[in-house]
Amino acid sequence: MFLNPNGRPSRGLLRNHAPAGNCYTATCSEIRFVEASVKHLLIVYHTQTGNTGRMAEAALAGARSEDVDGVDARLLRARDAGPDDLLWAHGLLLGTPENFGYMSGGMKDFLDRTFYPVEGKILSLPYAVFISAGNDGTMALAAIRRIANGYPFKEVQAPIIAAGELTDEHLKGCWELGLAMALGLEMDLF
Ligand SMILES: Cc1cc2nc3c(=O)[nH]c(=O)nc-3n(C[C@H](O)[C@H](O)[C@H](O)COP(=O)(O)O)c2cc1C
Repeated sequence: MFLNPNGRPSRGLLRNHAPAGNCYTATCSEIRFVEASVKHLLIVYHTQTGNTGRMAEAALAGARSEDVDGVDARLLRARDAGPDDLLWAHGLLLGTPENFGYMSGGMKDFLDRTFYPVEGKILSLPYAVFISAGNDGTMALAAIRRIANGYPFKEVQAPIIAAGELTDEHLKGCWELGLAMALGLEMDLF
């Protein structure tokens, strides 16, 4: 990412001249080399029959799109994710199926295991949600939102709910969600 003379992001400018992991601040009279701070996007998901997994892969692809510089995206199954991953993250995507009118047990277990270890160490972590559901999804969303308030996480993008058969449109929505989260982190929008 590059900053224009007002200090605002100026995408694309001088992009090809910046070494990986760094950026330039350009003014009329000087081009100053500055160290970029890489932002971390964590995508945690649970899936049983694969739908939420496909949504998670789409979100990861969006976050790793060529439009994104300086964001490191990490995709983890809920059972493999823990407090250290949350502490690493500057932004978070949570993906779950709706099971019995709630988030899945795997996602709930992740939140149960991490809450106390990160308590007081996370200040308003920007997050968003994607959900796969047979016909609803809203109760899983409500459950995640209620728990997220406690961490606290701050919801910064609209959720993607794939109700019914998973379609290309749903996957495109997840791709865009991953991209929006990554660009938001890159530009310090959250
Ligand atoms: C045990 C179980 C409970 C479910 N409960 C709900 C539910 O309450 N509401 C709903 O819309 N779909 C429900 N479903 C359907 C799943 O949410 C849906 O099949 C989803 O796409 C599965 O995601 P996955 O492939 O990532 O596991 C349930 C499925 C299972 C296996």
